[in-house]
Formats: sequence, structure tokens, C-alpha cells
Amino acid sequence: RAIAEKFGLLAGKRVVITAGPTREAIDPVRYISNHSTGKMGFAIAAACYSAGAKVTLLAGPVSLDTPNGVRRINVSSAIKMLDESMHQLEEGCDVFIATAAVADYRVAEVAEHKIKKAGDELNVSLVKNPDIVATIAQQSKRPFMVGFAAETRNVEEYAAGKLVAKKLDMIACNDVSRADIGFASDQNAMTVFFAEQYQMEKRDLEKASKQEIAQQLVEAIHDALHHEIE
Ligand code: CTP
Ligand code: CA
Repeated sequence: RAIAEKFGLLAGKRVVITAGPTREAIDPVRYISNHSTGKMGFAIAAACYSAGAKVTLLAGPVSLDTPNGVRRINVSSAIKMLDESMHQLEEGCDVFIATAAVADYRVAEVAEHKIKKAGDELNVSLVKNPDIVATIAQQSKRPFMVGFAAETRNVEEYAAGKLVAKKLDMIACNDVSRADIGFASDQNAMTVFFAEQYQMEKRDLEKASKQEIAQQLVEAIHDALHHEIE
């Protein structure tokens, strides 16, 4: 697509994006988290804003500057990210893009005080976190739902499974076993799948900068939003 045509692809749409890792407290000074940098989500936020959307970015703890024109709300735990997502849904949301690497489990009972070093072993019991994107997809006034899947094997099969299980409209997946792309890299390559009712072919987004990939994802969202559903 030509630059001029790209401009305004999401004009007037309200877009909510989750990004970065979540942080799950163990005690007042310690936490469980992961290596997500938030780069992909922040690049998508910037691309959505450039495409004319009103963008709210729900960011876990990352060290990135807020993209120009984007409203950013910082959150820490998965529970806080879900609460804020539900709040944003009430405020109105047309497209929900879940790029966050949400911690799958949180500590069952967060210690009130710093845990003191004692025995040779420490056991921390974990409980499952809510699935944010699946929870939003279950709401009656649901937005167009976009998920992400980073896999190390059976990439397309697992991603297609998540598309159905989480009732998403679209999922973008990448193979994080490839050293040249994903996570901390500035480059990415993805495959996009659409829910069956769209009857749209999967799209391979070739290896490119996260900015370029973000632009292609915006186009995929736009195309699906304007596609006749059965
Ligand atoms: N996701 C979410 N809330 C969670 C876990 C995941 O919103 N508690 C979202 C992610 O933001 C992503 C999609 O679900 O868009 C897929 O995340 P992923 O971690 O790949 O899926 P899981 O269902 O957690 O499966 P697993 O980690 O076992 O592969
Ligand atoms: Ca997970």
C-alpha cells in the first residue's frame, strides 16, 4: 500500500494494546517476571496512532518511551492488567491487541514482609492467572480481538489452537526459537491467521523491523475489519 493510502486505515477507531511483561510479587521486594521488552506492542501502538486511531497502551514494567500521541497506563501484575483492560472496555474499545507476555501464574500468597533466608529450600506455591485476552473476548460488547503467540515449536498449530480457544479474530505468531527474531530483537517475522468466519488466507509477514511488521499488522486488522463476515 502507498503511504498516503495507509494513513487513516484505523481512523476514528479506539485501540487498546497490552504490552510488556507482567510482574508478580513474591514479597515486598521480590517478583516473578519474564524477558519481554514490550518493543512489539509499543511499535504497534505507534503504528495504530499513525493510522489515525485513538490508542491506549496498557504497559507492564518496560524501559521504553511512550510513543507520540499514545495514552499510556502503567500496570504491574496480570490482575491489574485485566482490571485496567476491563475498564478500557467500558470506556469503549473497537480493537483490542494483546501483545503482553502475561505471567501465566502468580504467587498464591504474597508474603506481607520480606522473606528471610532460612532453610536450604524455599517452596513458593503458584496459582494460574486469569487469561486477559480470552476474558475480554467473552464480553458481550467485544471488540475486534488480536492475539499473539510466541512459540518454540509447532508454531502454526499452537497459534491456530489459541485463535479458536481464546475466541480471537486474528492471531500473529512467531517462532522464538529463531535467534534472529523475536523477544529482544529489533527484527521480527510473523504469520497471521484470521478466524474461520473471515475466510481470509493466512499472511506471512517477512522478516522486517518491528516498525514494518507493526504497519503490516495494522493493514491486516484494517482488512479484516472491512471484510464481509458470513
Ligand atoms: N494472554 C493473556 N493473558 C494471559 C496469558 C496470555 O491475555 N494470562 C494473551 C497474550 O497476550 C497473547 C495470547 O494470550 O496475546 C497468547 O499468549 P501465550 O502465552 O502464547 O498463551 P497461553 O494461553 O498462556 O499458552 P502457553 O503460554 O501455555 O503457550
Ligand atoms: Ca503464556
